[in-house]
Amino acid sequence: MGKLNGRVAIVTGAAGGIGSAAAIRFAEEGAQLVLTDIVGDRLEEVTRQARDRGAEVVPVIGDVTSADHVAAVIRAAVDAFGQIDVLANIAQGGMDEHTYLADTTAEISERAWRGGPIQTMLFMQQAFPFMRERGYGRIINTGSASAVFGIAGFTAYEMAKSAVQVLTRNAAREWARHGIVTNTFLPVIRTPAFDLTEQGRQAAENMAVSNPTRRFGTAYEDCAPVLVFLASEDAGYVNGQTIGVDGGAHIFA
Ligand SMILES: NC(=O)c1ccc[n+]([C@@H]2O[C@H](COP(=O)([O-])OP(=O)(O)OC[C@H]3O[C@@H](n4cnc5c(N)ncnc54)[C@H](O)[C@@H]3O)[C@@H](O)[C@H]2O)c1
Repeated sequence: MGKLNGRVAIVTGAAGGIGSAAAIRFAEEGAQLVLTDIVGDRLEEVTRQARDRGAEVVPVIGDVTSADHVAAVIRAAVDAFGQIDVLANIAQGGMDEHTYLADTTAEISERAWRGGPIQTMLFMQQAFPFMRERGYGRIINTGSASAVFGIAGFTAYEMAKSAVQVLTRNAAREWARHGIVTNTFLPVIRTPAFDLTEQGRQAAENMAVSNPTRRFGTAYEDCAPVLVFLASEDAGYVNGQTIGVDGGAHIFA
């Protein structure tokens, strides 16, 4: 019996490193899936891998910064499965824009906001009525430790990721009475995102040596099992939390 048997999960950014690992683990745990990403060929490949593990999968290729696309993903889930139990908001647009504070323009900031908290908010709002109807929901939002501690050169991204944590906190306060819990995870995980910028490539080189575990965690082995937990019934009393999945790279307490 899988931990997600009978559950329907939406995963955004499902063609990426963490999103694809989440999709495949969710499939292995018995979930039915609606997967979305802007990179169609990779999304088709992840869809195939999840189907090989027995999941029914609806892929919806598109840009999460479009409100029409968000609505189409929600509609696809409800049309195909009649319910939404899990929403894993993993996509983040604008990750390739490296900006020091002095160089950060309104346009760059707006791209990061549309690519992160605004689309995350729309997904949460539109999934909410379906979760409330069944008295069950698991919302997983993706933050970044850089938004907590600050890293030079990521101003717009960090502003956006801070706002994602606001969404988590408010959903946790407002929706838990309906059986919906919401959490943010902060990954430090080797994925293609580190290859997008020179700063990312340099950071990746230092990750393993500076990590207390002396390794740079991987999406399928180290991150996706935590997301399965947060998506499962077991997480029903974990709400509004910020959970590092980082080998102790950042230790809060
Ligand atoms: N990997 C890490 O260590 C790390 C650290 C901090 C935060 N994060 C966060 O984790 C999440 C996943 O990152 P990842 O490392 O797997 O990166 P990734 O680049 O491998 O995956 C991101 C995915 O999101 C998709 N995406 C981007 N913009 C989109 C858009 N507008 N519409 C639809 N899809 C879009 C990309 O195509 C990609 O498949 C992101 O929110 C990222 O900010 C990752």
